[in-house]
Amino acid sequence: MITLTDIAYVRSGVEDLEGAVRFATDIVGLEEVRSDEPGVAHLRAETRGHCLTFVQGPSGAISSGFTVASRDALAEAETELEKQGLRVERGDRAGARSRGVSEYIAFDDPFGNRVELAAEQFHSADPVRLGRGSGITEFGHMCLDAPDVREAYRFWSAHFNTRVSDWVGDGACLMRIDPVHHKLAVFRGEDAALCHINFQVDSLDDLMRNWHFLVDQGVEIIMGPGRHPTSGAVFLYFRGPENLTYEYAVGGQLIEDDSTWTPRVFDLAHPSSIDMWRGPVAPTTRQPQLPPQVSAAAS
Ligand SMILES: [Fe+2]
Repeated sequence: MITLTDIAYVRSGVEDLEGAVRFATDIVGLEEVRSDEPGVAHLRAETRGHCLTFVQGPSGAISSGFTVASRDALAEAETELEKQGLRVERGDRAGARSRGVSEYIAFDDPFGNRVELAAEQFHSADPVRLGRGSGITEFGHMCLDAPDVREAYRFWSAHFNTRVSDWVGDGACLMRIDPVHHKLAVFRGEDAALCHINFQVDSLDDLMRNWHFLVDQGVEIIMGPGRHPTSGAVFLYFRGPENLTYEYAVGGQLIEDDSTWTPRVFDLAHPSSIDMWRGPVAPTTRQPQLPPQVSAAAS
């Protein structure tokens, strides 16, 4: 069993790098941090050196990264995954540098989502200078697509310490790797894709202020403000460039004691299963996973 200690980063290919960065800083409110790689931009939300990277090139998801506890744990994970029959690639030094980690490995989930495990994600002691007063406190979770979320959970729970917190029928599996209700979610979608990335904000006031700000800026609101009955978080989904969906959320249940928690199933056909305030429910836009040869070139 491989222990994921946290989520680490998302890498995304963008045709318009400047536009993607401008949106991430001026609209979402992240901080752009220095990159010495041409065509690559890093964004920061909190003490992680960065958690979102845009790579100029074809538009689409490149990879989603998690941390493990140490370099030894990474080597053990590599052996374990290979033993289980997965094709695992070890990242090179330049790739690790770009990810802000010491070492990493990469593999595909059964649906083609590119997943990476990393050791020693670098943190920065510099104060976070958010692009605007968005109230962002952390990179909260990421969500991938798979055609069969039950099958996806079999994969994640067979290899990793991911535990389902709640299901939304056969439409979504919300998984935790620590007390946070979900740091990884898999939603039902036709193909491998990055469904959305979440940034937690400090307060309900921040979320509501951000909502009005986004509307004023003409940003497409996909869903919310609403409250998920699963985690209890108040959410707001909005559309960024290149089909990348962002989410702000505040709050969310902590599951401190696994032995006391039984995953619940909410009926996908029932509108309040997504938003218990019964606001309009809409699918997010997805950033399709880039094919392996394209994502390798962009990685
Ligand atoms: Fe989310």
